[in-house]
Amino acid sequence: MKTNIAVLGAQWGDEGKGKIVDMLTPHFAAVARYQGGHNAGHTVYVNGKKFVLHLIPSGILHPGVTCLIGNGVVIDPHALFAEVEELARGGITVDGRLKISEKAHIILPYHRELDVLSEARRGERKIGTTSRGIGPAYEDKIGRRGIRVCDLLGDRTALADEVRENVSARNRMIIDSTLDWKPVFEQVVAFGERMKPWVADVSLCLHAMMADGKAVMFEGAQATLLDIDHGTYPFVTSSNASIGGVCTGLGVPARAIGGVLGVAKAYTTRVGEGPLPTELSGALADRLRESGQEYGASTGRPRRCGWYDAVVVRYSARVNGLDAVALTKLDVLDDLPEVLICTGYKTSAGTITEFPADLRILSGAEPVYERMPGWSSPTKGVTEFDRLPAEAQRYVKRLEDVTGVDCAIVSTGSDRRETIIKKGSAVERWLSN
Ligand code: GDP
Ligand code: IMO
Ligand code: MG
Repeated sequence: MKTNIAVLGAQWGDEGKGKIVDMLTPHFAAVARYQGGHNAGHTVYVNGKKFVLHLIPSGILHPGVTCLIGNGVVIDPHALFAEVEELARGGITVDGRLKISEKAHIILPYHRELDVLSEARRGERKIGTTSRGIGPAYEDKIGRRGIRVCDLLGDRTALADEVRENVSARNRMIIDSTLDWKPVFEQVVAFGERMKPWVADVSLCLHAMMADGKAVMFEGAQATLLDIDHGTYPFVTSSNASIGGVCTGLGVPARAIGGVLGVAKAYTTRVGEGPLPTELSGALADRLRESGQEYGASTGRPRRCGWYDAVVVRYSARVNGLDAVALTKLDVLDDLPEVLICTGYKTSAGTITEFPADLRILSGAEPVYERMPGWSSPTKGVTEFDRLPAEAQRYVKRLEDVTGVDCAIVSTGSDRRETIIKKGSAVERWLSN
């Protein structure tokens, strides 16, 4: 029996999920995205060539691997077509192995505009979204007025009614707006025609593959602390990026998930607004940002940077049931004389070691740090744990102690090959069966 695994973000996104998924893909027959949209930016380097995946699973660069987009994903057709074209320019064809759920919801042409408007209306309380229309598309889905992929391919009269409804709901949201529904209808019909060859019953495809003894990797976008239910609400995205999203976003049962791998950076970053308890400022933040190239893969925004927060990763381990962590970007810390690990927060109500629901508890909270000596020697490209400098090994082991999760993978560079898979780890077991 092959092990299907989920790979998901354990912090605030951009942990290097794309690199890890791509690196593990040769061991799987399929990679399936379960939530989010083109707010995601998953970077993969192959022989120095950079690919950024937004909607299409990060397994696509491996020929013969089936890539599925689940019902939990919201699809901007323009973004999808642009991504397919970009891949084609890089010599990658998707035909025959890209499958898009007929139940996935469509990001409509005006969802982006509603996203921007909603942010402007929030003023100082803005979320700092990617302005891709993600929130409004999920709002329409939950509000039961969304348009699904299968609607684009079904009865035209029914689709016309649905589009008219949706446009009139939109017009009620924007003062003095009287958008005509007919051009929208024509546009979505054209989207449907172009997407048709890829549309499938994704749940059925996955069940058939699994019944056939094939292994599947479930790929998360965003991360646990950006999850609509378990993240730093309201500074979150609008989907379940954590483990529950796999079942709802793909139509697979919980028992299909044989292993859960959380991806966490050796430090912490965040894009957009909201709490980041270990956030650094000044020269140290700039140093991390520059050596880690911490700029958004989708929006180019500079990422906020801080020390590793063990409270956050321990919380992610609990919510997702992490079997192992893939610790990325260890090499970014190479030149630092000292590295810090946050193990709790000092608040006005005392020291806490569990991530609080009420964000007000975090305002003014002081991280409690453990300090460890740095290693001041390069780790980039190292492929065996024993070859890491002793202080770097001690750092990784300390992270394992304070989070209670084994770092089965340690990533030492953006290329596939710059990876350590620890001997005897859960990951090694998953890949060997
Ligand atoms: P994702 O959204 O989780 O897939 O992550 P992003 O692609 O948005 O951001 C991660 C960035 O870190 C990308 O530019 C990767 O190429 C890069 N990266 C991943 N792993 C490593 C690593 O171990 N070391 C270094 N230096 N860069 C890495
Ligand atoms: P990947 O998959 C980092 C953040 C945005 C904003 C919040 C809500 O590459 O890790 P949204 O547009 O989703 O409504 O924005 O979520 N955000 C991400 N941050 N990585 C991502 O994706 C993100 N996708 C959304 O910056 O704070
Ligand atoms: Mg990203």
